[in-house]
Order: sequence, then C-alpha cells, then structure tokens
Amino acid sequence: MTQTDKDRVVIFDTTLRDGEQSPGATMTHDEKLEIAELLDDMGVDIIEAGFPIASEGDFRAVSEIAQRSKNSVVCGLARAQLPDIDRCWEAVRNAGKPRIHTFIGTSPLHRAIPNLTQDEMAERIEQTVTHARNLCDNVQWSPMDATRTEWDYLCRVVEIAIKSGASTINIPDTVGYTAPVESADLIRRLIETVPGADEVVFATHCHNDLGMATANALAAVQGGARQIECTINGLGERAGNTALEEVVMALKVRGDIMPYTTGIDTKKIMHISRRVATVSGFPVQFNKAIVGKNAFAHESGIHQDGMLKNAETFEIMRPEDVGIAGTSLPLGKHSGRAALRAKLKELGVDVGDNQLKDIFVRFKDLADRKKEVFDDDILALVTATTEGDDALQLVNLKVVCGTGGPAEATLEMEILGEDKSAVSEGDGPVDATFKAIRMLHPNKARLQLYQVHAVTEGTDAQATVSVRLEEDGMIATGQSADTDTVVASAKAYIHALNRLMVRRGKTGKDIKEISYRDVN
Ligand code: KIV
Ligand code: ZN
Repeated sequence: MTQTDKDRVVIFDTTLRDGEQSPGATMTHDEKLEIAELLDDMGVDIIEAGFPIASEGDFRAVSEIAQRSKNSVVCGLARAQLPDIDRCWEAVRNAGKPRIHTFIGTSPLHRAIPNLTQDEMAERIEQTVTHARNLCDNVQWSPMDATRTEWDYLCRVVEIAIKSGASTINIPDTVGYTAPVESADLIRRLIETVPGADEVVFATHCHNDLGMATANALAAVQGGARQIECTINGLGERAGNTALEEVVMALKVRGDIMPYTTGIDTKKIMHISRRVATVSGFPVQFNKAIVGKNAFAHESGIHQDGMLKNAETFEIMRPEDVGIAGTSLPLGKHSGRAALRAKLKELGVDVGDNQLKDIFVRFKDLADRKKEVFDDDILALVTATTEGDDALQLVNLKVVCGTGGPAEATLEMEILGEDKSAVSEGDGPVDATFKAIRMLHPNKARLQLYQVHAVTEGTDAQATVSVRLEEDGMIATGQSADTDTVVASAKAYIHALNRLMVRRGKTGKDIKEISYRDVN
C-alpha cells in the first residue's frame, strides 16, 4: 500500500502541560527548556509547552520555548476567556510556528461549572475561537469531556468552532471513559456529520483511567483522527495520558494493519523517557511498554535460549530502534575520561567539559567501590546532583544502627558556606538522618514520597532515591544516587529542600529567614 499525506499522523506532545500538571510532576524552568529541546529534536510536530495564564513561570517557559523551538509548532493552552487567549498569544507569538489551543468543558457536568446554558456556551465558543483566530492563524479547539457530551450538542459546538476558524478539533476523553470501538466511531461519525469537518484535522486526547489510552488513541486514528495528543512515559493527570512511545512504536511495528507514519526519530525515545522520569520525579514502572527496564529483558531459561538463537523469537522490535544500545563497552576503574565521554554519548547524554569533569570524579569514586559499572549506574551519576551553588550541602554522615534500639545519625552540613553539625536519633537510619537534617535546617516541608530503587544488581549496586516534598502547595522532588542507601537518601532530601527554596524564589541569605522563621 502506498502512503500519502493523509496517512501521516501528527504527534502533539503535552508532557509540559498535561504531564507537568499532574500532582508532584512540577519541573523547573531549565528542565522544561531541556525537555522541549529534546521533543523538538526527536521530531514532535507540536509541543504544548504550558498554560500561560496559569502562572508567571508557565508564561516564561512557554515564551522561551516558543523562541527556541527549531522545527516544532509551539502551542499554549487557554480557557475560553479573552484574557487567557491574549496571554497565550503573548507567550507563543514569537514562535516560528505558533498555535493557540483553547478549550471549554461541554458535557452536562462541565457546563454546570460556569453555569452556562447550551446556547450561552455556544456563543462563548464562537466568540473565543474567533478572537483566537484573529490573533493566530493556527487555532486548536477542544470540547473538554467530549466523550460524555450529548451527541447533538457535540456536533453543534464542533461546527461552530470550525466556522469560527479552528483548524484542529481535538476530541478529549478527559476522564478516560471511552473504549476503542467507541473512540473510533465517535471520530468517524463527527467527520461524516459535521459540515466543514473534512477541512480540519481531528485530534484525539485520551486519559488512561481504565488503561485504554493508547488503544483509544490508535482506534481514533482508524476512525479518521490525524493528530494524537500524548506525553512521554504517559505522564499526565491522574492515571496519565496516552504514552507517546507506545503509539509511535505501535504504528511503526504494526504498519501492516495501521498504515500510518509519524515524524518521530524513535531512536531518541529512551533518552527522553529517562530525562522526563528524572526531572518529573515519576519513575517508569519496570514492566512499562517500550521504555520499562524490563521491556527488553529476558530472564527465563527458555526465553534466553530463544533469544540467543534468534532475537525475533521473543522481540517484536529491536532495542536499538528505541535508543537502547544493543551491545555496550564495559567501563571500570581503569577507564579514562574519553571512554566515559563515549559511553555518555552512546547513552544519549551530551555534557560540557566541566560537567564531564564532575561526573568523572564521581565515576572513579564509584568504580573504586563497585565491581562493575553498568549503563544505568552511569545514568544515575548524571542524575545525582552535586550543584556546587546549592545553599544546603551534605558534608559528612555517619549512622549507627542495630536491632536493639534507635538509630543515631551524626550529620555535618554546609549551610550557605557555614559548617554545622547535629546528632539525632530516629526510628531507623533514614529517619534519624532526616531528623538531623531538619535540626540543621528547620522547615515545614511535608514528605510526600520516599522511594528507593537499586539501579543495578548486586549488594554493591547504587541506590537511586527520590524524595518529594510539599510546602504551602509548592512541590519539589529531589533525587540522588549512591552505593550507600542512607547517603543517597540524605542527598535526595537535601536536593529537594534546595529545589523547594529555589522554587519559592529564595536564595542566599533569604534562605536563613525562611527556614528559621517558618518553623511551626
Ligand atoms: O483532558 C482534557 O480534556 C484536557 C483538555 C484541556 C484538552 O487536557
Ligand atoms: Zn488532558
């Protein structure tokens, strides 16, 4: 079968908007820029970079991503309100290819929130889409909760949006309620029924509440949608969105039954997946399709035997196709800086000379303590932050613990260049350590998540620790890695505290004020 433009599926990534919106996944400004650059570079057609009216930070991120993006269309989200749309336009207007995405909840439950009648809402849609279109040539409109909107009303509002100038109509399954047959049918019927539908692109935006987001998105494509909205690792509100890596690889591997193409360079998938997991603080589940640690691992004897004879026995795609190096050059304590740089490159990590110097010191230290240094160990070293200008730094930690009583942590920290120490007891080594940190840096931050992963196998494996803190509605995630789990925990906790302070816009001497004044 020959493929035409009609078979090209546009990939719209909303990791930085719907993904970042999920509780606890907040990213810093620099992290958003980094992810946007990776999305642009991997061939994402449209990057939804944020919700400009939501905060000053979102506005700044969308504006800067708009200015930096090389190939992707940069889109901002706006509610159906004129000030939202104006702010969105201000943020995206300097993009090479800007888009305004405006939405309103059209189902009965959602109409009840602004308390609008069907007619009032229809009027609002006409007014706001027209306004957006007067500012920008590229306007996307979404009837939020479309899959629970009355059929007749959905047709009516989609027609109004098209007549008012929207060139993309997105049909969100906001609560992850639909099923594949219904998803395909809805798009097909809309295209057949609504006047002007053949002049616009229909998009699908699925949530994963029932685990059907990927299936629903692919079904929508079979029904005629040509834009899939998705996120890296399926990040997103509640159970998340359709995962970019899943739809892209499904279209690539099953082109026989789904003859559609995307512009994604699939070899870049693994790297961006790891970066999104790191910066969002949402680790990827081991058995996650495409990007999970076990997605290409074969444990059982029968499987290993089959794989050795012919990889296709148990693999429907090659690890290299998603950016996992097939073979790897092992690194050890005798490896030099050039080998480390080559390994980082192979893993898709580009570092400057200073960063390489820093990673190399930590690599040598690790190689001295560990028999084998695996790829994941190297990536954990890159993740582990030792930002020299952080206000709080770990200097030394000694913990005594046993079966008979409480653990005791003796901690030394540098706080704004001053050395301080404290001794604290706790219920186990991590509790004692965290209490000692709080003695030296009193704070009100609540621990929302404490997670430990062994990066590789063996008792000398590095542990990566994620710590998520919440203070006054502000969330920050810290991560670190070390062969000592308690040291990794202390570093991750301190990292999260540093990020929380940066997020609150406090640096330098202000920190003393917050940390000591805000204690209960
Ligand atoms: O899930 C949803 O409905 C959304 C819209 C804003 C498109 O994210
Ligand atoms: Zn959504």
